[in-house]
Amino acid sequence: MIVLSSDKIPISKELDMVVFRNRLKELAVKIGMGLVNQTKLITAASELSRNMLRYANGGTVLMEIIKGPTQNGLRITFSDKGPGIADITQAMRDGFSTGKSLGLGLPGAKRLVSDFEIKSTVGKGTTIIITKWKNG
Ligand SMILES: Nc1ncnc2c1ncn2[C@@H]1O[C@H](COP(=O)(O)OP(=O)(O)O)[C@@H](O)[C@H]1O
Ligand SMILES: [Mg+2]
Repeated sequence: MIVLSSDKIPISKELDMVVFRNRLKELAVKIGMGLVNQTKLITAASELSRNMLRYANGGTVLMEIIKGPTQNGLRITFSDKGPGIADITQAMRDGFSTGKSLGLGLPGAKRLVSDFEIKSTVGKGTTIIITKWKNG
């Protein structure tokens, strides 16, 4: 896999999420991603950046255009230095929330993308990497 472009922005307030969503949309259009996949990706990315703000007081997002074996795609890396997630299996379950919300966020985001990886260490932070292929 080859990285064709790379763009990193901090997320520390609501306005950063707007900037992030707009930038992501631009990149999706640039690679010719269809509207349905754009919407899925932006919905997933919005949820993950919101989690970063809410649970980790912010972090960074790295947006990359990647060239895969058959098509291009977007890979987004969400990194924070928040409290981390003690039980990832539990956090990935539909309906689990420590924040008294619906708790569809992480599993919902996973269903909307082509690939979803999560790494988290309690006391150190959380990294989530999602990939959406242009036609995936
Ligand atoms: N970046 C993060 N840092 C620490 N904890 C997180 C992070 N993202 C999610 N979590 C934890 O995982 C739980 C599930 O997240 P999610 O599925 O988005 O549901 P919700 O945000 O509605 O609670 C959250 O309640 C929170 O405890
Ligand atoms: Mg959430």
